[in-house]
Amino acid sequence: MKVLIIGAAGMVGRKLVERIAVEPEILGGPIETLSLVDVFEPQVPASLAAIAKPGTVDLAKPGVAEQLIADRPDLIIHLAAIVSGQAEADFDLGYAVNLDGTRWLFDAIRTEGLKEPYCPRMVFASSIAVFGAPFPESIPDDFFTTPLTSYGTQKAISELLLADYTRRGIFDGVGIRLPTICIRPGKPNAAASGFFSNILREPLSGQEAVLPVDESVRHWFASPRSAVGFFTHASTMDTSLIGPRRNLMMPGISATVGEEIAALERVAGPKAAALIKREADPTIQGIVAGWARCFDATRARELGFTAEKEFDEIIRIHIEDELDGKIGG
Ligand SMILES: NC(=O)c1ccc[n+]([C@@H]2O[C@H](COP(=O)([O-])OP(=O)(O)OC[C@H]3O[C@@H](n4cnc5c(N)ncnc54)[C@H](O)[C@@H]3O)[C@@H](O)[C@H]2O)c1
Repeated sequence: MKVLIIGAAGMVGRKLVERIAVEPEILGGPIETLSLVDVFEPQVPASLAAIAKPGTVDLAKPGVAEQLIADRPDLIIHLAAIVSGQAEADFDLGYAVNLDGTRWLFDAIRTEGLKEPYCPRMVFASSIAVFGAPFPESIPDDFFTTPLTSYGTQKAISELLLADYTRRGIFDGVGIRLPTICIRPGKPNAAASGFFSNILREPLSGQEAVLPVDESVRHWFASPRSAVGFFTHASTMDTSLIGPRRNLMMPGISATVGEEIAALERVAGPKAAALIKREADPTIQGIVAGWARCFDATRARELGFTAEKEFDEIIRIHIEDELDGKIGG
């Protein structure tokens, strides 16, 4: 099997590649070539060196998608994106990568299929940002998509394309609407959602973190380990069970910031929780006020997608996967 992962140097991409290194047949069989591309050079674990083909590419440049599809990968996992804050700040870049890049990728597959029959599996990273407030308390699977950001709009348009190209038999698409992935490994970033991870990751390493919102703020989460599971499952599942609604809301946990902190205290003790400093930020408070709080992900669960059931598990996964089991830095 030939596999292409676009956006392989990003957070989810790196985690996915690490998982493949541990379980080489997790994408449904032995991998003949694993093409890993991104604007930054993707890292290749030593055990994958014989099959990995890392490359730096800009999907937003004309002609790049055709080159990526030229050797006809059987499975394409499309993770490349300009994320929400940057796509809002830079209109041109967001549309160029998130919409034009995706359209070119999808169309390169169509063009390749005109030469001789070709219908790869296409797994696309979408987002809960395809939905927009006002929301019901729990958002059902069939809630309409009315995004309130350019990023959400680019993801929603890509979802429509994914469904139509699948209907036409150009590829076999699955759209993964990811919850907010928590605890995001690495350094604190400037994303408005960053604090959901920062207030756990930093105290778990003995560092202070700032909480800019009230503890009553509620949101929808899954761990990086679950995110990898969503993509491996979507790569191997029987897609005849999905039907025409190809974009699936992934399962997760609905939790308040207060519940996150209580879980931190249970798992890592009161000293860790005491490292959280409350500094209200009206801008971030305003942004998160319009965010989704809870989803009914019944369809995805029935199709075999799974996520954590309680927040303590999300914290334990971070300690196991990122801190070698050790709390406190
Ligand atoms: N992490 C989350 O909480 C979350 C939530 C919802 C949706 N998503 C989506 O999941 C996917 C992966 O998320 P992530 O957290 O790993 O994001 P990330 O920003 O860490 O990774 C995205 C990668 O895409 C690459 N990229 C950007 N422009 C590119 C281009 N023109 N050509 C090639 N590569 C390009 C970036 O360099 C980066 O490595 C993204 O599509 C994102 O929109 C993530």
